[in-house]
Amino acid sequence: MYDFVCRAGICGSCAMMINGRPTLACRTLTADLTDTIELLPLPFFKLLGDLSVDTGVWFHDMAKRLESWIHTTKEFDPTAEEERMDNDTANKIYESERCIECGCCVAACATAQVYPDFLGAAGLNRIGRFMFDPRDTRGEQEWFELVSTDIGVFGCIGMMACDDVCPKDLPLLEVFSYIRRKMNSGVKVAVNEMDLA
Ligand code: SF4
Ligand code: SF4
Ligand code: FES
Repeated sequence: MYDFVCRAGICGSCAMMINGRPTLACRTLTADLTDTIELLPLPFFKLLGDLSVDTGVWFHDMAKRLESWIHTTKEFDPTAEEERMDNDTANKIYESERCIECGCCVAACATAQVYPDFLGAAGLNRIGRFMFDPRDTRGEQEWFELVSTDIGVFGCIGMMACDDVCPKDLPLLEVFSYIRRKMNSGVKVAVNEMDLA
């Protein structure tokens, strides 16, 4: 039992451990591997059987925990023109949106093996996507409360195994750095509020 849909590296369903490394089976050539190939299901996710794991429940839960939608108080106006966005911001959002939810980064992550609630690179990348987005009006303090925990950005030990295995080459290091900088601003806000109290 194993999963695949697109066979083109875009659906993320065929991720598995191949010779000890989490990767997409459909983008792996047997010619590049050893004569004997070891296949195992991704660790961390719920095993459904053989090489098939349930990544969907985890990603759905992560999306809910991070409130993965644009938070705004603006009334929706269906007749309004599209809002413009500068190219750099749009490109950053686009890069984060390229995640195919394969789970390779989480399977490679030492912290995730110890803390089952850890957001992993996929979760941090997801929240980074909304932090980049100027339409999301969540403030420094709200971001801070959402990810400044041991199961959020402070649980990340920064050895970047996630970055090594991400089959879509997402700029995870750049996203993590951005989130950490945001957390520093959140600490300053919290400290200022304590000063005023
Ligand atoms: S840098 Fe390491 S600890 Fe942090 S998310 Fe990536 S694999 Fe996990
Ligand atoms: S960040 Fe990369 S490795 Fe992680 S789920 Fe997304 S595409 Fe897969
Ligand atoms: S089958 Fe879709 S990514 Fe491999």
